[in-house]
Order: sequence, then structure tokens, then C-alpha cells
Amino acid sequence: MSALAPTKNLFYLAACALSLAIFNTSSIAQSAPATLSSPKAVTEPLQGLAHTASGIELSNAASTLMIDAMRPDVLRVRIYPKGHPAEDASWAVLPEARKARVSVTSEAAGFSTSALRIAVDANLGVSVSDLAGNVLQSDAAPVGWDGTGFKVSKQKTGDDHFFGLGDKPGPLDRAGQSFVMWNSDTFGWQESTDPIYKSIPFFLEMHGGRTIGILFDNTFRTYFDFGHERADRYTFSAPDGPLDYYLLYGPEPKRVVETYAWLTGPTPLPPLWALGFQQSRYTYIPRTRVEEIASRLRADKIPSDAIYLDIDYQNHNRPFTIDSASFPDFPGLIHELAAEHFHTVLITDPHIAYLPNQGYMAYDTGKAGDHFVKHNGQDYVGPVWPGPSVFPDFTRKQTREWWGTLYKDFVDDGVAGFWNDMNEPAVFVYPSKTMPDDVQHRIEDPGFAPRTATHLEIHNVYGLENSRGTRDGLLALQPNVRPFVLTRATYAGGQRYAATWTGDNSSTWNHLRQTTPQILNLGLSGFSMSGADVGGFAGSPPPDLLTRWLMLAAFQPIDRDHAAKGTRDHEPWVDGPVQEDIRRRYIEERYRLMPYLYTTAEETSRDGVPILRPLFLEFPHATSDDHPLDQDAPGEFFFGSSILVADSPSPEEVAPYTVSLPSGLWYNYWTGEKLDRRASIGTRDLEIRDPTATATPALPPITVQPGPGDLPLYVRGGSIIPMQPLVQSTDEKPSGPLTLRVFPGDNCHGDLYQDDGMSFDYRKGAYLRLHFTCSVGADGSLSVDIPKREGNFTPWWTAFRIEAVGWTSSATQVSIDGHSAALEHTKLGWAATVSDTGKPLVVVFH
Ligand code: NOJ
Repeated sequence: MSALAPTKNLFYLAACALSLAIFNTSSIAQSAPATLSSPKAVTEPLQGLAHTASGIELSNAASTLMIDAMRPDVLRVRIYPKGHPAEDASWAVLPEARKARVSVTSEAAGFSTSALRIAVDANLGVSVSDLAGNVLQSDAAPVGWDGTGFKVSKQKTGDDHFFGLGDKPGPLDRAGQSFVMWNSDTFGWQESTDPIYKSIPFFLEMHGGRTIGILFDNTFRTYFDFGHERADRYTFSAPDGPLDYYLLYGPEPKRVVETYAWLTGPTPLPPLWALGFQQSRYTYIPRTRVEEIASRLRADKIPSDAIYLDIDYQNHNRPFTIDSASFPDFPGLIHELAAEHFHTVLITDPHIAYLPNQGYMAYDTGKAGDHFVKHNGQDYVGPVWPGPSVFPDFTRKQTREWWGTLYKDFVDDGVAGFWNDMNEPAVFVYPSKTMPDDVQHRIEDPGFAPRTATHLEIHNVYGLENSRGTRDGLLALQPNVRPFVLTRATYAGGQRYAATWTGDNSSTWNHLRQTTPQILNLGLSGFSMSGADVGGFAGSPPPDLLTRWLMLAAFQPIDRDHAAKGTRDHEPWVDGPVQEDIRRRYIEERYRLMPYLYTTAEETSRDGVPILRPLFLEFPHATSDDHPLDQDAPGEFFFGSSILVADSPSPEEVAPYTVSLPSGLWYNYWTGEKLDRRASIGTRDLEIRDPTATATPALPPITVQPGPGDLPLYVRGGSIIPMQPLVQSTDEKPSGPLTLRVFPGDNCHGDLYQDDGMSFDYRKGAYLRLHFTCSVGADGSLSVDIPKREGNFTPWWTAFRIEAVGWTSSATQVSIDGHSAALEHTKLGWAATVSDTGKPLVVVFH
């Protein structure tokens, strides 16, 4: 705790003696209890306890504890110096969620809701149980205070699993490790590097098959320890700022993720093109090189949607300028690319070149509006790409509005997306690599009391507020166009404003492997739209690495090929036709799956469940002891709810490996082969579990040995996956029917969402939603139900092609609404094509 500031506040003095004791014992490793214990039952009312309509307040000599039930399954816990409540404000939590409260039932030493029981003790210790008495979280020690700093300690069992915390590298499960939140420009980060670019102080804790989520809403340099220091505790601490955290109850992890989206907002629906393949490089220069890349993508028939221009399109790296020597007629270039169905994405770093009186519009208007952060009473000036630079104070609403106006010319030119890089904020000074701690930000934002805050408080939200300014600015310029913003740094809740990527990774096999846990943990932390530089940023990938990376990234939410200066070319065609064919094949598959991917993205925009999902999110009870199945299957994940991607844990080797499939019926995506894995225990439901039932042992894993161009994919039986004919960009209208690929099984269903892919007209009904179902009749027939359309959007197709995968019955005929129709034998089973007149249909394979 050396980072804690010296004691400043008298209210804390009494607590400090206690905290010293807590901190001093913390280095002794303890064995973890098997279950969590709650405080001893208290029957007499606690002194200083006041019941409120939505919870309690309890004070001791130094502090006040306040717990509010925001919903029956969501608690907000705050502790503050007695008589000095902290400001009730947040950059992360939505104002409407923060105000939500439910009435609770008072108890002698706590209260209960319809989902949770909360008990407190005289030391302000908190214990939370479910109504059956299972302890979900319990303090391991009173909160330890040291000046403005504090540490919250919770009991931990040896069987606790931790997920979330954004893009931090390392394994998916964060148990046994500790982390710090401080957004950092970390070129060439490695698996053990911490911190890197983002601070998302939200994690899921899972034990005994029950999951809770904790958002520790404190923007300072916070610390998280998941059993690194002591095996029997997990802790979160801060050197300053509010002790303010939210507890989100599952018990299922998916519910926690949905609730986190309720609290902080889901990832919004992206423009369709952002789900296409994106080609980038630091840096395509001059204009003719950009044109070459665009032409080659089209000539080689690599489906693609976006081209990025990195810092060298600018005049001397000055944001919001153009190097017109290298990029003559810039608007002409953007239009030329758009005519080829490429969306141009421009980098716009937050630093503004410090160029007084030189006619640099971004500086001049920023200075005139007093929009830059201050140091010792002057605008702070620090070196970044353009040389000496000033930095917008994005904590001010008026500054964000000014920032938004800077995009006007680019938007008028037809630029489609923007890339907010270097917004940790990165400054080329060492060793801090950012601005001084005592730089001042002048908070002026609805929901906050106007005040000056030091950089120590604002650093971790600088990127969040930068991307907020960009998104809001784009919306002000084009209210009916869905913005696409890519940010490097952010904080909890930042998913509302921007997609993200994992920064400057490296061209190594280990970094390829690392993309899976990172993107999964980002998704669990609210960021559904995320990706990693395909091929690796630093270094030059050998051909087979680039190929495997392009294969895997075809099933990640953002598929962007990007590379650093001085590295060899990374585009899909380098390394010759054999490699290119494999790479193209996977990108093509992504485009065929675009209706499924877009439908998943739209679901995410409503429920917050990420596009990429760990296995435990779909199958939380797949193992007999409820450990996450992902531990046994490090290369596996769900792409949407139906497709399981099973990459090798050692992708550098063309060697056999095992695939763990949760219990159920599965299909090989590529061949249609059926895999009946129904003997294990995966479909148990926590709430209805029979404690006397003995678990059936899981089936042994499957061994696979894919060839160099093969990536095993499996589909859950009971899925209907919408697919489309191949296109070269999402702008192109697919020609042919919409395919419904039916993988028969229990509870068989699938969804489709469509709209114009770019506007907000869907909010006024211009969308189409279909929920398909299928069932197998007693006579062995397979019937597929296509219901009435919801919404009034007219789709691109006029027919459905229904494919019954693995359908091996003696199928000889198909009937559509009772009339027989032509049946086709395909490599995956049987298929029939039927016109879509917008009316409900029943298609039966006999
Ligand atoms: C750092 C970013 O992480 C990288 O993607 C970009 O290419 C360089 N800055 C140059 O802008």
C-alpha cells in the first residue's frame, strides 16, 4: 500500500490503527476456507443502525456504511467518513440506474430483498447471502483505512474464479493474481504486463456454481487482488476517492453480465460495415498506396469493408489536418474508396499540437474556448507525435462539444469512422508516460458538482470521456447515422461510446493465443465490440502465424488487420496464393455468417451479453464441481450463442488436441457430422438442482487433429443459423435466398434481425425480426416454423433456403404449408428453397 497518500482526514484516524493491523498481516498466506461464512447472527438491533426504505445506514466512530438495494438483485455499498457523504456521481453508471431503488424488509442487523439477505456487524462488516442461506460474499476484515486510502477485504475459497477487468493480459480466470488500474501506453506489452490500456474495475466472482459481479466505481489508481497475497481473501483498494461498489447477483453469470449492462449501458448496435473485415496499417502513405490496397482487396476478392488511415495522413501528425502533399484531394480519395464500398476510418489522437498563432484551427479554437487541461495555472504542454501538445479537458461538457465540432470537415468528406488512439493519455515523457499527477481538470458535467480534480482522479476516465466526446460529436453532426468510434483507453461504461482493441500486441503465437482470453474478458466487462490487431502489431508474423490469426479473427467481433511501421506487409495476399486462399476462405465464412453476427450484435445492444462468450457463460454448470469448463478448454469460446470455436491451445503446432464440448447434441459446422454428447451433466439448472442426484461423469473430450487450414467449429444442436450468399462488402446486396441452416435438437430455435445497417430508423419500426423454431415429429419428420415478420423493414431476400443439417432420415420430400416442393441433397444434409412473401410458413422435411 505504499501508493496510499499520507493521512489527511481526522475522521480516518481511529480507523488507521485497525488498518495497520490489517495490512501487516496480509502477507501471510492462509489456506482458503471451502465455503464462505457470514457474521454471527445478531438478534439485538445494532447501535447506530438506521433502516431506510431501500436498505440501511450504520455508523461507527469513524465512518458510515450505507447499503441500498437498487433492485432485488443489485446492491450499492458505500462507506464514507462519518458526516461527510461522498459526491453521488459516476462516469460509469447510468444516471437512471443509479437512482433506482426498491423497498426492502428490515431485519435486526440488516435487511432482505426478494433475492438477497444482507447482514452487517458493528465493524461495518457486510455479508450477502441468497435466500437459501448460501453466502455469496462476506467481509474478511473491516475496511482498512490509511489516510484517504482504503482496502476492502472479502473472504475467498480455494474454489473461487474471477473474470472481467477488461483487457488485462493473462489467463481468462484471474484467480491468484493481482492487478492495478492505470491506463498505460504499453507498446509491446507481454502476458505479464500490468497495467495496459484500460481500467474497467468490474469483475465476476464465481464459486459453488453461483456468480456475483462487483463494480468498484473509483477512478483512481485502484488495486485488485484475487488471492495473490492471501489465498483466503480477495481485496480491492484505492489510494483516494470514494468507497463505492455495486454487487450484482446472478446466480448465473449471464444474468450478472445482463445486469452490468443495465447498470452501465450495453454496447450499442454498430453500423453493419464495422462487422466486416477491416484493413489497417501504420501507415498507408501516400494516397496511391491506399488506392493499391483497396484495388488489391477487390481484385483478389477478399471481402472487406474498411480501410484505416493512421497518423501519417496528417500534416506533421497534427490531428484534424491533412498532409496534402501525400494525400492530394483528400475528399476525392474518401469518395473513391466509398465508391468501391470501403468505409474510411481516420485516426484522431486527443493531443492537439501546441502551435499558437499559426492558423492551426484545432489549437486556435481550443485555446479560444479555454478547452485544455492546466498545470500550474497554464495550459499543460507535453510531447506526443506532433511535438509539444496540449490536451482537451474532456471532463467538461463544453469541451467535449467543441471536440465534436472538429469532425465536421471529415464527416462532410464522407469519412465513416474514427479512431481515438493515445488517449490514456500517452505523453512522451519518462518514466510516467503520461501527464503529471497534479495536472488539473475542471469537471463541468451534468451529474457532477463543478470542481477541479487532479489528474490522479481523471487519468483513468480520460479515454472514456474522449470517446464520449467523439461519439456525441458525430451524433450531433449526423443524428441519423450510427457512429463507429474505436478507442484504446477507457473506463467502465465506455462501451456506450466506442468499440475497442487490445493495443500494441506482438506478432507471436503467444499473442495470438492471448487474443481469446482478452476479448472474452473484455466482453464480460461490457465491451462486446472488441478485437486485437490481426497478425500482431509489433513484429512481422511468419506466414503460418498470419494465416492462423486471420482464421481465428474471422470469429472475433472486430476483425482488423493492423501492423506497426517497419514490419513486413500483413495484408491477406502476402505469402502467396496457398496462404491467401485459406485466409480468404475464413473471411468469406464471416461474411456468409453476417446475418447471424449482426443478429447477435443487435441482441447485445439490448441485453449486454457479448458476441464472444466463454463456455461458462452458456454452460455455467458443465462440470461436476462447477469449475468453469473453459479451464479445461483454453482455446474454446462461443461466437454468438450457437457456434463454438475450438482452436488449439498450441496453434503453432499441427498436432492433435482435445476439444471439450458441454453436454448436449453438437454438429461439426463444416461437415454436418452429428456428435451426441448427451451423457454428461451440462444442462443442470442451479435453481432446480436435486441435491441428492449424483452427477453423471462428463464424457471424455474429443481428440482432433486439424490440418493447417482447418479450424474446428461446432454448432449446438437445436440452433437455426441465418446465413447469406457471399458478398464482397456489407454494402453489396446479397443475391439469392437467406439461408436458414437448421441443426435439429432440443429447444430448436434461431433469430434473425435486419435493418438498413446504418441509421437509427429501426427505432421507428424500420427493422425486421424473426424467431424461427424447429421440431422433430413422432414420425421422424422435421418441421421448421417461420413466423410472421415483426417490424416493417423490407429485406434483401425474396426466398428462404432451409437446410436441414445432418438430416439422415429417409427424407424424400418436403412440404411447404402442406404443398410438396423440391428437395435437394447437399453436403450437409437436405435443403429446400421457398419464397418469402412475408407470411408465416411451415416447412416439413418428411
Ligand atoms: C499506437 C497505436 O496503438 C497503434 O495502433 C498505432 O498504429 C500507432 N499508435 C500510431 O498511430
